[in-house]
Amino acid sequence: MTLSIRPATDADWPSILDIIKPVLAAGETYAIDTNLDDAGLHAYWMMPAHKVFVAELDGQVVGTYYLMHNQRGGGAHVANCGYMTSPEARGQGVARTMCLHSLDRARERGFRAMQFNHVVSTNEGAVALWQKLGFQIVGTLPQAFRHPLHGYVDSFVMFRAL
Ligand SMILES: CC(C)(COP(=O)(O)OP(=O)(O)OC[C@H]1O[C@@H](n2cnc3c(N)ncnc32)[C@H](O)[C@@H]1OP(=O)(O)O)[C@@H](O)C(=O)NCCC(=O)NCCS
Repeated sequence: MTLSIRPATDADWPSILDIIKPVLAAGETYAIDTNLDDAGLHAYWMMPAHKVFVAELDGQVVGTYYLMHNQRGGGAHVANCGYMTSPEARGQGVARTMCLHSLDRARERGFRAMQFNHVVSTNEGAVALWQKLGFQIVGTLPQAFRHPLHGYVDSFVMFRAL
């Protein structure tokens, strides 16, 4: 099986939508409204500030991520990303590959660090993966996320230098 990552095109939107729609509707991992319609999902994931990539497994889009500035001005040298893998492709290293790819793209663009602002503490697989890839939990936001099943749970700020 061949996994490749490339910039997203407009033609990828239906595949991207299939991946992000259930994840955002579930409301368990991203601090984003859960009731966005397709236009709202497009406005969010494909916003001009996001450089969007897709991961293809044997030619099929199975993952997507965006890369952007975490802040502007004096904070513009810190990147931010969001990643999602389709349920049927999880556990095969797609997110690991996307994250490593994003770290390279961020370095190329001159970013000096990457920060994740809101990694939900119950998202244990994601927390463990980011830690394996060099991110540290630099802060805990107490009960900053209202999880649909677990109620108010902590979120982590995760950071690594590039
Ligand atoms: C989190 C997510 C992106 C992981 O995608 P994935 O492609 O399945 O991840 P990978 O296959 O690259 O996993 C890599 C590692 O993380 C671990 N991992 C991934 N998901 C895990 C889980 N649910 N529980 C435990 N470990 C997990 C794997 O064991 C693997 O470890 P290894 O590389 O040492 O073998 C995916 O579950 C997803 O899209 N979730 C919904 C959106 C989300 O939470 N995004 C991240 C927000 S911070």
